[in-house]
Amino acid sequence: MERAIEKICDIREIQKIKDRYQKSAANYEKYIKLYNYFWQIFGFRYEQWRRKTIDSLNPREGHTVLDLGCGTGLNFLHLEKRVGSAGHIIGVDISNEMLAMSTKKIKKNNWRNISLINSDFNDYETPDKVDSIISTYSIGLDTKYKNTIEKSFQNLKPGGKFAILCFNDQNLSIKAKIFLPFWLSCIQDYSKSTFLFNFKTPWDHIKEVFPKNSLQDFYGGLVYLALGIKSK
Ligand SMILES: C[S@@+](CC[C@H](N)C(=O)[O-])C[C@H]1O[C@@H](n2cnc3c(N)ncnc32)[C@H](O)[C@@H]1O
Repeated sequence: MERAIEKICDIREIQKIKDRYQKSAANYEKYIKLYNYFWQIFGFRYEQWRRKTIDSLNPREGHTVLDLGCGTGLNFLHLEKRVGSAGHIIGVDISNEMLAMSTKKIKKNNWRNISLINSDFNDYETPDKVDSIISTYSIGLDTKYKNTIEKSFQNLKPGGKFAILCFNDQNLSIKAKIFLPFWLSCIQDYSKSTFLFNFKTPWDHIKEVFPKNSLQDFYGGLVYLALGIKSK
């Protein structure tokens, strides 16, 4: 009975995510660009943290990188530069509309080494083990993030790395506490309720699953970068 209720809740959550991104996919990148320019005035460096996350994985020429919740493919350009044409990028997303925007970007740039998978990243099992896994601004939407972390551990090669970049509202500095209500008043309702009010702390589970791990925070704790490394 409990399992059945859990299943219904999961289906509802997934449907909410699909509905949300169905509406916003076409304008997602415009919104992010604007958001980036505006919040930079306050030192909130959304894109810089994305690059730091990619740096933490240190993807090399020929590597395979799995991007969980890839959305419109904002990580692809950075990853392409690192893995080169001999490498491979796998983007997984539950939203068809977000993936359609990724497909446009892939065609426009003539990238031939990116595969897109329409799936819940919770269940996604890679055909072969990968060198690294990235999830930027997505895992906070995931009610089953513990599964995702465990699955990611299984999907990685020995020595592989998993990096999560997302938002947090626990133990914030004074600066972040002052900034938070202002920021929340500008971001959309859906993001408020999912990213911030579920009090998810995936880094605790990263610590449990990955023997080597690290946690960095930015902007007084409002954004975190959790890294897990699988032993060789
Ligand atoms: C805020 S967007 C971030 C997109 C991209 N990673 C970026 O950095 O711009 C969140 C993305 O996660 C996807 N997503 C959320 N939960 C998911 C799940 N359980 N499985 C697959 N995709 C998911 C959404 O469809 C959406 O495209």
